[in-house]
Amino acid sequence: MTPNDEHDDDPGLKPPCHGILVIYGASGDLARSKLLPSLYNLARDGLVPDDFAVLGNGRTAMSDDDFRGQVADALRTEIGDDLDLEVCSRLTRQVHYESGDVSDPDFYDRLGRRLDELREMLHACRQQEASSADAEPVADNEIHYLALPPSLFGSIVEHLCEAGILRRDWQARSRIVIEKPFGHDLESARALNHRLLEHLDENQVYRIDHYLGKDTVQNLLVLRFGNAIFEPIWNRRYVDHVQITVAEDGGIGSRGAYFDRAGTLRDMVPNHLMQLLSLIAMEPPSSFEAEAVRTAKAEVLNAVTAETAAAAAERAVRGQYRAARNGDDGAEARGYRDEDDVAADSTTETYAALPLTIDNWRWAGVPFYLRTGKRLAARQSEILVQFRRIPAPLFRGTGARADWPPMANRLLIRIQPREAILLRFEAKRPGPAMRMDDAELEFCYRDHFGAAPATGYETLLYDALHGDATLFQRADSIEAGWRIVDPILQAWAKADAAGRAPAPYPAGSWGPEAADELPARTGHAWHNQT
Ligand code: BG6
Repeated sequence: MTPNDEHDDDPGLKPPCHGILVIYGASGDLARSKLLPSLYNLARDGLVPDDFAVLGNGRTAMSDDDFRGQVADALRTEIGDDLDLEVCSRLTRQVHYESGDVSDPDFYDRLGRRLDELREMLHACRQQEASSADAEPVADNEIHYLALPPSLFGSIVEHLCEAGILRRDWQARSRIVIEKPFGHDLESARALNHRLLEHLDENQVYRIDHYLGKDTVQNLLVLRFGNAIFEPIWNRRYVDHVQITVAEDGGIGSRGAYFDRAGTLRDMVPNHLMQLLSLIAMEPPSSFEAEAVRTAKAEVLNAVTAETAAAAAERAVRGQYRAARNGDDGAEARGYRDEDDVAADSTTETYAALPLTIDNWRWAGVPFYLRTGKRLAARQSEILVQFRRIPAPLFRGTGARADWPPMANRLLIRIQPREAILLRFEAKRPGPAMRMDDAELEFCYRDHFGAAPATGYETLLYDALHGDATLFQRADSIEAGWRIVDPILQAWAKADAAGRAPAPYPAGSWGPEAADELPARTGHAWHNQT
């Protein structure tokens, strides 16, 4: 069965995508750990046709075969025992390599020639498949994936345009995919958008946020707009408050040099947490077209109440982990300042918590609390929608509950791990007496659907190849995310200048105490996984 045949009967799936994927930074971490494994997963699912090629680029000189060896190694490491050797060897045959320094203008001439060769090769392959001499030329999909530091994005795009490899009028053949961080504040994000959009149209720029590749994140759209029961109560009349938590139990690993400059707020909030916020709070889009979805997401971010730096300083909490002994074996986790490539007196935050309000008819007055951090007590990414309490005390004084009032209903959406959706409600205990207790309905992703392992990049790559930008960030959303965090960045820069460090918290805890005060001010408490 060819990849095409296999998916003919699935109307929700676009056909496998022919064309060329150029990966700049092809020997780097991102390519090894995410892009190549996700291509493998697409190939395993029959979504990589024969007339598809990957062209890797890096500074190290190597032959196609050397690079193929590297790709096979990466797949063996990342996929492990489940690696299907046939899929692996088919995919590695489709991989090519062109070494070169992306800051050297001469490289782009070679790259252009190499792309011409690959196009011809794919065309021949297609002709062979169609066994006809007049098969369509294969030139319609080309994406350039910049798996490189963001400081290079602008100049690479300029070089690619000057060399005639990217062109505004070749929409399908001239798409770029770029990774976060997209700027380091509002001003730099605007400047980068401006630079890219001088050469390309917005619909040629695919700003990736890997959170949008997660099924549980995409499911927020289905949960809200594929069901009739949630939307009527998804507003200020019924919702008491919303919490968004992206907690990691790991530290910064070997990324000290990057992280110490960025900090948790920049690393996580304008991108991943804003994606979650916009999906949970947006208005229903008018259609599932990319522009409609992206407009609805940008609108809700634009409705987040603007803050001054002074107000942000009052409300947002930053923390930094300190060494602590944790776990059954009492192993010592290093403090942040002892991590490799981190300054011994660093004031970079490894934890950030902030309250937000959304100034629109749906959400006015409903607090949204966001938090994220490294070396916390558990890996827990979730959204908690807490509903208001019952309005009439029907069971008060009946002895139905020892404590009164009963817990409010809540919907807990676990993004990862243990992907699930849980609805908490009150139920009558069995027996002759009228007694109430908390109960929970649980939908567990894995049990219900079973699922082949995925990196989260599969859908994103597949969509970018097809020119579907729904799951990518538009320039205005990026800027809206930075607009929200900018006052906090300014407030924290001032605090640094005044010699005030982030609040310390022990590695393995739920963050600094000051973060608990944040929801407590309005009578709420964080939901911590137990
Ligand atoms: C990345 C951040 O974008 O997301 C990392 O740079 C973070 O610091 C990671 O650890 C979290 O992603 P995930 O998919 O593991 O939740």
